[in-house]
Amino acid sequence: MASSLRSLHHLPRCTRQLQRLPSLNASRCLLQQQHQQQQPRWQQQHRFQSQSKADIHAPDALNPKLISIDASTLEVEETADPKELVPHHQLVFGANFTDHMLSLEWTAKEGWFPPRITPYGPLSLDPATCVFHYGFECFEGMKAYRGKDGELYLFRPDMNMARFNKSSSRLALPMFDGKMLIELIKKFVRLDERFIPNDRGYSLYLRPTMIGTQRTLGVGPPGSALLYVIASPVGPYYPTGFKAISLEATTYALRAWPGGTGHYKVGGNYAPCIVPQMKAAEKGLHQNLWLFEDIDPETGKPEQFATEVGTMNLFAAILNKQGQKELVTAPLDGTILQGVTRDSILTLARERLASEGWIVNERRFHMRELDEAANEGRLLEVFGSGTAAVVSPVRAISWDGKMIECGLPANEEAGPVAQRMKDWIEGIQYGDEPGHPWSVKV
Ligand SMILES: Cc1ncc(COP(=O)(O)O)c(C=O)c1O
Repeated sequence: MASSLRSLHHLPRCTRQLQRLPSLNASRCLLQQQHQQQQPRWQQQHRFQSQSKADIHAPDALNPKLISIDASTLEVEETADPKELVPHHQLVFGANFTDHMLSLEWTAKEGWFPPRITPYGPLSLDPATCVFHYGFECFEGMKAYRGKDGELYLFRPDMNMARFNKSSSRLALPMFDGKMLIELIKKFVRLDERFIPNDRGYSLYLRPTMIGTQRTLGVGPPGSALLYVIASPVGPYYPTGFKAISLEATTYALRAWPGGTGHYKVGGNYAPCIVPQMKAAEKGLHQNLWLFEDIDPETGKPEQFATEVGTMNLFAAILNKQGQKELVTAPLDGTILQGVTRDSILTLARERLASEGWIVNERRFHMRELDEAANEGRLLEVFGSGTAAVVSPVRAISWDGKMIECGLPANEEAGPVAQRMKDWIEGIQYGDEPGHPWSVKV
């Protein structure tokens, strides 16, 4: 039996040269959009309609035998060499890892093998392994928190699992039972819980990753895969309080487009963003604001629509032309990642800001609209949203040879909507709202 995957801790146990047999049992997507929304006019005019309808997967992706994970068969090998804890204030994002890792191997013939927790360590892969050549890789970003009651919590892990399945299936990698993976992640987090500092703002960043492991240069569906989860203790994103960022609205490169794969969390989407990020940094700007140019159905003219920022979704709080306070973010049209934080902010805004007269819209908004609002004093706030920072206030956006000021007074680093969203979400994550359904006990 040939094996392309050997780690110091993983003995090979499955064939890597398997061919997947296409089955006729296909074509209905497991992961339906949670909220059916009425389609806005511009979407109806598009061939590529919404992300959920664009979900694409291999013919046998939904075969229950290939999805099923049996968490009860977990094997645990504890480390004989526990690491020293890094002092809290020295933690650098993604630089330190815990004692263990969780991994599961899969073949197209057998499905998922029994999960294992082993000491954290390198993988050893044949140089011909398909992940290295054709980018069969996708991942997730989520966190475990120590609540103020001392218990450990995950935040909306079901959303990460659904997104992970969407990403993997788009790459012809296997799907999996998300509930079972959450149970395994809980066991992994409990084993390494000593790495989670007891202070507010600290957490354990979890990085579920899936790669194709078939040893082949042939371009085709991977006959084997590895799903692993590693964990990194992290400190608060803004240890001394918010620091508003400035953005470059990038007009010379595109990150995503309807019908493409930019809205999946696949590694291949991230490397191409680094050069634009470096170019923005050369100008003293922190991140790229990715644009998508399209015809504005209201005017019939081309406009540059704002999509998302670096590794964050983007929100704008505007006083619209009718004098209403409006919180807007780009729709799930294939140009943005479906952020867990984005969804949380939309939900909280609808629940908690509507009574203050806010309307909340997932709609396209373009740079000219932001520019006009700023010029007329109607641009109240702009902020990014993501797991790392929760919210990240934006001070200014460089676009079309000018700086659009985003409503922050010079002596302030965050507007009231961004501040409240951060407080509400962190409050739920750290147990200020006991029993909140988004907080899942480990
Ligand atoms: C491209 C991109 N957009 C948005 C987000 C925010 O998503 P989430 O709120 O799930 O962290 C991320 C973070 O992972 C990202 O990588």
